[in-house]
Amino acid sequence: MASSNPRKRPTSTQISTKSSSSPKENIIINNNNTSSDSPIASPKWGLLFKLSLFSIPPYFYLLFYHYPIEQELRRSILINAAMSLVGFFLTVKLIPVASRYVLKRNLFGYDINKKDTPMGSVKVPESLGIVVGIVFLVVAILFQYFNFTEDSNWLVEYNAALACICFMMLLGFVDDVLDVPWRVKLLLPSIAALPLLMAYAGHTTIVIPKPLVPHIGVEVLDLGCLYKLYMGLLAVFCTNSINIHAGLNGLEVGQTVVIASAILIHNIMQIGASTDPEYKQAHAFSVYLTQPLLATSLALLSYNWYPSSVFVGDTFTYFAGMTMAVIGILGHFSETLLIFFLPQVLNFLLSLPQLSGYIPCPRHRLPKFDPKTGLLTGTNDGTLVNLSLRILGRKSEKALCIYLLGFQALACCFCFLLRHILAGWYK
Ligand code: UD1
Ligand code: MG
Repeated sequence: MASSNPRKRPTSTQISTKSSSSPKENIIINNNNTSSDSPIASPKWGLLFKLSLFSIPPYFYLLFYHYPIEQELRRSILINAAMSLVGFFLTVKLIPVASRYVLKRNLFGYDINKKDTPMGSVKVPESLGIVVGIVFLVVAILFQYFNFTEDSNWLVEYNAALACICFMMLLGFVDDVLDVPWRVKLLLPSIAALPLLMAYAGHTTIVIPKPLVPHIGVEVLDLGCLYKLYMGLLAVFCTNSINIHAGLNGLEVGQTVVIASAILIHNIMQIGASTDPEYKQAHAFSVYLTQPLLATSLALLSYNWYPSSVFVGDTFTYFAGMTMAVIGILGHFSETLLIFFLPQVLNFLLSLPQLSGYIPCPRHRLPKFDPKTGLLTGTNDGTLVNLSLRILGRKSEKALCIYLLGFQALACCFCFLLRHILAGWYK
């Protein structure tokens, strides 16, 4: 373990030269005292203001006016929203505090896309996803007190889901600190998903798409144990796919914010359009987990947006991926979730040759940064980040991140359109 072997803090030049050869080379953990490090920059309130202005009014319009949702359900959603808001402010407040602590333990990284500039030698605190995860869990645990459903089976699954998220966060933090080898990393989510896989007592059936019914012969197919295997694979995919679509300031949290917003809208639309109480409850539980995820992630985004004053770490990417996976599982909309994850699916397919070892996979598959122009150029590494640069031409880090998040939002809109077009014909 790195922390049991204290080393001298390396200089920025040492770090730059090592930065593409050894694992976790730019996160150095030892017992040196770095209390002289300056505190991180203040949150980007302007960004948060713009995002809230753009998203909160349409959300409350859907919740209060567009759909006739029962008062009781509205009350639970509102209480959850209020608790998430408190969670948001708590996260904003705690991130600078936690940053001081992680820097003290020398848990930091160097911004690779600013290498050879003054910003490239700044120690950026790592693993701040731990704050988001802890605040999220506190909100989600306390919220059970205000959930007015009478179906206690849901509470069992809800708590099992929280156990998965907590377990995943722990393993993500372990990975940040110990730098687990890449192949083991891929498997960590299957271990973390065990609590939900074991406690899951919901249905294990899938509704066969109407065009396929004549070929398969049944309308509903019981997958039994295979359904649990599918749930486990979904957790492995969601966590790893968020983690490998990364490396630009704001991209890890940004994609989470976009997908979580789409999940939230999807849930409200489904609750509003349905008359089946069980179906509504499934989507309501998704809302209760998505709102705190969105609120706490937004708080982290305000520090992680370009230029990042904190890094999120694998603690966050694993936590966010697992949370969205369990949200999709408990809400029974994993197919829709996978379409929201379209850029991640694309990035995963592009990554396959390197992930499988067919083509050598360097520690970081990031674009090439030119310190003179401040622009990024795509490399031959198989990632969506590099492919976008090859298609769009050289871009600044911030512009590229905005393009990729725009593409994520487009994928979500495409999913809504597809659901609208296929409604009634597909299922
Ligand atoms: C995954 C990717 C890797 C990518 C890395 C970036 C695969 C197989 N792995 O590895 O290619 O380089 O994520 O997160 O696709 N960093 C930045 N700017 C950022 C975010 C991170 O420079 O905006 C750097 C920092 O040095 C930070 C480090 O990336 O310390 C974190 O990398 P880590 O999350 O440990 O990488 P992996 O998840 O293993
Ligand atoms: Mg990572």
